[in-house]
Amino acid sequence: MNPAAFALWWRAAARWLLACVLMGAAFIAQAQTIRYDAATRVFRIDTDAVSYAFGVNENDQLQTLYWGARLAAGDALPAAHTNEGNVSFDPPESTSLQEYAGWGGSLYVEPDLKLRYANGNRDLVLRYVSHRIDGNRLDVHLRDIRQPLDVTLHYVVDPATGIIGRSALIENHTKQAVTIDSVAAASWNLPAGEDYSLRYLTGRWAGEWQLQTRAITPGNTVLESRRGSTGHENNPWFAIERGGEWAENHGDVWFGALAWSGSWRITVEQGVLHQVRVTGGFNPFDFAWPLAPGESLSTPVFYAGYTSGGIGEASRLLHRFELTQVLPQQPKPRLRPVLYNSWEATNFAVDQAGQEHLAELAASIGVERFVMDDGWFGARNDDHAGLGDWVVNPKKFPHGLKPLIDKVHALGMDFGLWVEPEMVNPDSDLYRAHPDWVLNFTGRPRSEGRNQLVLNLARQDVRDYVLKVLDDLLSHNDIAFLKWDYNRNWSEPGWPQVAPDQQRKVYVAYVRNLYGILAELRKRHPHVEIESCSGGGGRVDLGILGHTDEVWPSDNTDPFDRLSIQDGFSYAYSPAVMMAWVTDSPNWVNNRRTSLDYRFLSSMQGSLGIGANLLHWTPTDFATAKNYVADYKAIRASVQHGRLYRLLSPRDNSPHAVTESVAQDGAQAVLFAFLQASQMKYPYPRVRLQGLDPDARYRWRSLHGEPVAGTLAEASGAYWMHHGIDLALTGDHQAAAIVFDRVGGGQ
Ligand code: GLA
Repeated sequence: MNPAAFALWWRAAARWLLACVLMGAAFIAQAQTIRYDAATRVFRIDTDAVSYAFGVNENDQLQTLYWGARLAAGDALPAAHTNEGNVSFDPPESTSLQEYAGWGGSLYVEPDLKLRYANGNRDLVLRYVSHRIDGNRLDVHLRDIRQPLDVTLHYVVDPATGIIGRSALIENHTKQAVTIDSVAAASWNLPAGEDYSLRYLTGRWAGEWQLQTRAITPGNTVLESRRGSTGHENNPWFAIERGGEWAENHGDVWFGALAWSGSWRITVEQGVLHQVRVTGGFNPFDFAWPLAPGESLSTPVFYAGYTSGGIGEASRLLHRFELTQVLPQQPKPRLRPVLYNSWEATNFAVDQAGQEHLAELAASIGVERFVMDDGWFGARNDDHAGLGDWVVNPKKFPHGLKPLIDKVHALGMDFGLWVEPEMVNPDSDLYRAHPDWVLNFTGRPRSEGRNQLVLNLARQDVRDYVLKVLDDLLSHNDIAFLKWDYNRNWSEPGWPQVAPDQQRKVYVAYVRNLYGILAELRKRHPHVEIESCSGGGGRVDLGILGHTDEVWPSDNTDPFDRLSIQDGFSYAYSPAVMMAWVTDSPNWVNNRRTSLDYRFLSSMQGSLGIGANLLHWTPTDFATAKNYVADYKAIRASVQHGRLYRLLSPRDNSPHAVTESVAQDGAQAVLFAFLQASQMKYPYPRVRLQGLDPDARYRWRSLHGEPVAGTLAEASGAYWMHHGIDLALTGDHQAAAIVFDRVGGGQ
C-alpha cells in the first residue's frame, strides 16, 4: 500500500475505531443505572421509565435536581447551584432543595438530622466528601463542616419499577457523646408548583384504609404514629399528584412508603417558594438516641417511585416491588393458600373436638390451610387472662396440639396457629414471674389495653424469651403458619432498667428486636409463613412485610365495608398479601345481611380465607363454597400476582365498585363488580376493561352474575377496553365475577 493510501486507510480505520469506542461508551452509560459526572458533580439515576438526579452545589451540599420521567441520556443536567434566596428571612439553605439536611446554619425546613453534643453545641452542617457506586447501589459520604460526624446516604435502585430506596447511617467519630433528637431516612423533593395534591391513608380499628386527598398548600402535613407501632390511624405511605386530577391511568404521580413498624413520621411540607419536601423516618416525638464516640445509628429505608401512568400505575408498581423485592419469599412468593380461621366461629372456645370438626368441614370445600386462632393456651378463656403463657391448655387439648395437627394433615391441609408473643395479661404466670418485663415507668400506673400490657422487646432477656418460646413451639409442632397478632398500642413507654439517657431508644430497639426475632425464626424454620395482624391492619408497612408473608387488613369482615377497606389498602399494598375472609351473615360489625355469593366475590379480590362458622352452613352453602374455592384456585395467580386495575371506586358512597386483575402473562383477566343498591331503574354503568392486549381475542365466562343478553361471547382486547361490557346487575348487594380468557391473537 502506498503512503497516501495507507494514510487514507488509517484515517478511516481510526474513525471506525473511535465510533466503536464512543458507541460502546454510550451503551455503557445507557446501561448504567447510576452515574456521576465529575465535571458537573451531578449524580444521575436512570431506569427505563424514571430519572432521579442530585448534585453537589458550590457549598458542597447535596441538592435534588430532578425526579420524574426518564430523561434522554444526552440531557446533561446543569450543576447544582444554591437558590439565591432572601438573605434576611429565607436563606439559601432553606430554599435550596437539600437532599439530606442537617439542622444547623440557618435551616428552617424540616431537617433530616438534628442532634446535640454533650457540650451543648447543636449545630450540624453536612458537606459532601465522597461517594461509591456499586451496580444499583450508591453511597454518598457527608461530614459536618467542623466535626467528624459522618452521614452515609444509601441509595438502592430497582430498575424494574424505578423505585429507589434511601436510608442513612449516622456515625459519631468525634470524641464526645452526641444525642440524635431526630433522624430521617430521606427527604424527597419536588420543584415549585401550586397544583400538587396529596393522598394518604387513615383509619381506626375496624375502619382502616380510608383514602384521603388534600391539596398541598404552604405549611406541613404530618402523617405519623406515636404509638410504638405502625398504627391504624395513618399508614406510612403517600402519593403526590400534580395537576389536580388523580386519574387512575394517566398523570404524574410520586409515591413512597417507609419500611418501619415502630413510631414513624412523614412530613409533607410546602416551603416558602412552593417547593414540596417529603421527609420520613423515626418519629422524633419522645425519641432520643445517644451515640457514644464510635457508635452509629442506621435508619429504616424510605422507598419512593414515580410514574406518568396515574395513581393506578403507582399502585401496580408498588405491588410489583413488594412481590419482587420486599417479601421474604421474593422475587417469586408462593401463592397464598386458601385458609380457614376459627376466630369468628369460636372466639376463645377452642378445643380439640370442635377444631377437628371445623377442620373436616373446611377440608370438604377445598381449604388448604387450617388456622386455629386465640384461646388454645394458658388460662385463655377470654381476653382477661393467659396471654404470655404459651403452653397448650390441657383441658382444651389434653394430648397437646399433635392430634389436631395430625388430623388437619390427614385432611390434606397444613396447620396454622395464632400467637401474640409481644403481649402479656397481668393475670398470667409470665407476668406474675416477671412484672418488670413490660413497658412501664417506675411507680406509675400501667395502663391496660384489652386487659394486656406490652412486653418490652427491647430488653435482651425478653427478646430471648420470646424467641425461645416461638422456636420451641415451631420445633415441637408441625406448624406451617403463624398468625402473629399485636392487640394494643403503647402507653407509659418506660424502660427503667437502662440509664435514663438510654431509655428513649426503646422506640427503635424494640422494633429491631422484633425484626430480629422474625428473621431468626424464619432462618430456623424456613417453611413457616407468617401473617402480620394488629387488631386488623395496625401493623402493615414495608418493614414488617420484609419479614412476613401476608397481613390481616382489618377485623371488619363485612363484605361491603371490605370493598372500600380493600380499595384503600390496594393503593399501597398488593392483593397478594391482603387476607380476606368470608364470614357469617348478618355480619357482627354492622348486622348487614349479604348473600354467600356476595361475600365470596368480595373476598376473592384478595387472598381468600373462610372465617364463617361452618357448623351453621346448609348443604347448599357447602356446595356454593366448594365451587367458589375451586374457581378461586383457578384465578388466584391473576388476583394475587397480576396487575390490579381499580375500574370503579366504592369510595364516597358510590353504589358501584369494580376491580379487574390481569394475569402477569396477560392470558386471563378477572372482573369483580358490585352493586350496593339499584336506583331509579338506572343500568349498571358500562365497564371498560384495562390492561388487555388490544389485538388478542378474549372469551368471557361467568363465575357469578351475567352480562346483559346479546353480549358478544368473544371479542378483541380493544373491544373490551373501548366498547366495554354491560352487566345485568340489579337489586341490593349484588355482585358479579366474569373471567376473560385469552383465546388467541395478540403478542
Ligand atoms: C385480634 C385479631 C383477630 C383475632 C383476635 C383474637 O383482634 O385481629 O383476628 O385474632 O385478635 O383475640
